[in-house]
Amino acid sequence: GGLPGAQGRGRGFPSISPTPADVDDLVVPEGFTWAPVISWGDPVEPGAPRFDVDRQSVEAQKGQAGYNADYLTLLQDGDRGWRRRRGVIVFNNEYTNPELMFPDWSGEVTAEQAEIEMAAHGMTIVEVRRTNDRSPWTYQRRGTRNRRIHAWTAFALDGPAAGQDWMRTSTDRRGRRVLGTLNNCAGGDTPWGTVLSGEENVNQYFDATGAPDPEGRLARYGITSGGRGWEQADRRFSVLAEPNEVNRFGWIVEVDPDDPGSTPVKHTALGRFKHEGATIRLAEDGRAVAYMGDDERFDYIYKFVSRRRYREGDKRHNMRLLSDGDLYVARFTGDGLQDGQYDGDGEWLPLVVDGESRVEGMSVAEVCTWTRLAADRVGPTKMDRPEDVQPDPTTGRVYVALTNNTARTPGQIDEANPRANNKFGHVIEWREAGDDAAALRFRWKIVLVAGDPADPSTYFSGLDRRGVTPISCPDNVAFDGEPGHLWISTDGAPGTIGTCDGLFRMPTTGRDRGLVQQFLSVPTGAECCGPVISWKDRSVLVSVQHPGEGGSSAYPYLGDSVPRPGVAHVFPGRKRPR
Ligand code: FEO
Ligand code: CA
Ligand code: CA
Ligand code: CA
Repeated sequence: GGLPGAQGRGRGFPSISPTPADVDDLVVPEGFTWAPVISWGDPVEPGAPRFDVDRQSVEAQKGQAGYNADYLTLLQDGDRGWRRRRGVIVFNNEYTNPELMFPDWSGEVTAEQAEIEMAAHGMTIVEVRRTNDRSPWTYQRRGTRNRRIHAWTAFALDGPAAGQDWMRTSTDRRGRRVLGTLNNCAGGDTPWGTVLSGEENVNQYFDATGAPDPEGRLARYGITSGGRGWEQADRRFSVLAEPNEVNRFGWIVEVDPDDPGSTPVKHTALGRFKHEGATIRLAEDGRAVAYMGDDERFDYIYKFVSRRRYREGDKRHNMRLLSDGDLYVARFTGDGLQDGQYDGDGEWLPLVVDGESRVEGMSVAEVCTWTRLAADRVGPTKMDRPEDVQPDPTTGRVYVALTNNTARTPGQIDEANPRANNKFGHVIEWREAGDDAAALRFRWKIVLVAGDPADPSTYFSGLDRRGVTPISCPDNVAFDGEPGHLWISTDGAPGTIGTCDGLFRMPTTGRDRGLVQQFLSVPTGAECCGPVISWKDRSVLVSVQHPGEGGSSAYPYLGDSVPRPGVAHVFPGRKRPR
């Protein structure tokens, strides 16, 4: 075969060497090259102007690609022929770096800059094409499905919390319609062709100075003094002025990328917390199961199980699956270290079952809105910042990235979070009872304790640590179509092991189980997100998020002096001339 890396024990590609943290480059393995697909400011909607860093406006940004690409998915129009080479990509625009966006940044946001930032948040949907399996994906300036979702896009609320008193505001007296989505981090695509996206660190947008908090609800969600200054541009970000607006963020949202005129939905049945993302697996009986992490030190892993069953080909029906169902939170119990493994049993503790609350003193709608407070009462396991949770589509085993937790003390360790001052993170695998995603019990084990392999506290599925590469702060996990091919992208390597973040592969089965290899590294200051890997054709799409953060970068190296976060495509080819 002519594809690079197809030789040699199926290892697939020559691992790149760790990239020093100050290198401003996107480094890919021998035999591969890369091209930017779309970057911040590229025009997406009809009439949007070309990117011009010196002529930014709210109107322009509403039609241009958003900032800080995170979760990314590619929905091809078909499996074969030309349909395979057309489709849409959807990516989250998690947050903004005003110090990098605005050439005249003074350190204090102006009202106009705040609104440009709001317009640069949300999601970007664009049509893409490639001419053959060795050419890059390129975005279609005039794609009919192109769409920007930003801080003023209307969302419908559904599920138990929709319409409750605490969801009503001065501009939405029914509590069923929210403008905007914020801090969209990871996500997942559904078997019915839609895209899910998690609203994560929404606390940073809301100034709650002086707001009463008798039940500790604001405090449990970290909603204090904001920090972005948006409350000066829009009163809804002032909790004193608009006390319920904050309850309308922190949800899983669902978007139909086929219909740019559709109203996206915030599904309150999936609970409210710092949602990293949500990934779907169908249960044996066809119910849709969503796995979700709450990315905070000592917070939890959740699972939603729909009441209704998936119906093949019935998108209208399937788009209501996440409106109604049961909600659980995970408890991991270790079986001791005598067996030389971090492993044990797990159970899904009920919060909502059959439309009834299982939490004393809280209604279903309250459990869904203040899910952290509900979960606190049932004794789940406090984890080391649960990020992406991803089932392997070929084996059904589920993987969670626990990115790090330097606040864990030696007295707080347990078998599922076994390292005090956990700077480098770890990955847990579990297997649901009977391999059924809706099961209420599971078996789990740690498959990776990350870090520099020279550090004896690291663990690579029992593999001899020679031959593996350093890896730190796993954030996103993905599969590439081959059984057991787990890919991990990282966020935090520069500050922990002194290298650029990147994308890694770690087989979970076979003789190479635990063999971590590095596929690429992202430019200085960036984190690597949203990997979409099709290993059959050696195609890898990644989000390059916040290049130049804390310093400077010229990514994507098209001659602009400002870094432009976006999506890059890595594919077989010769190295780019540099
Ligand atoms: Fe936005 Fe948990 O990473
Ligand atoms: Ca054990
Ligand atoms: Ca993340
Ligand atoms: Ca992260």
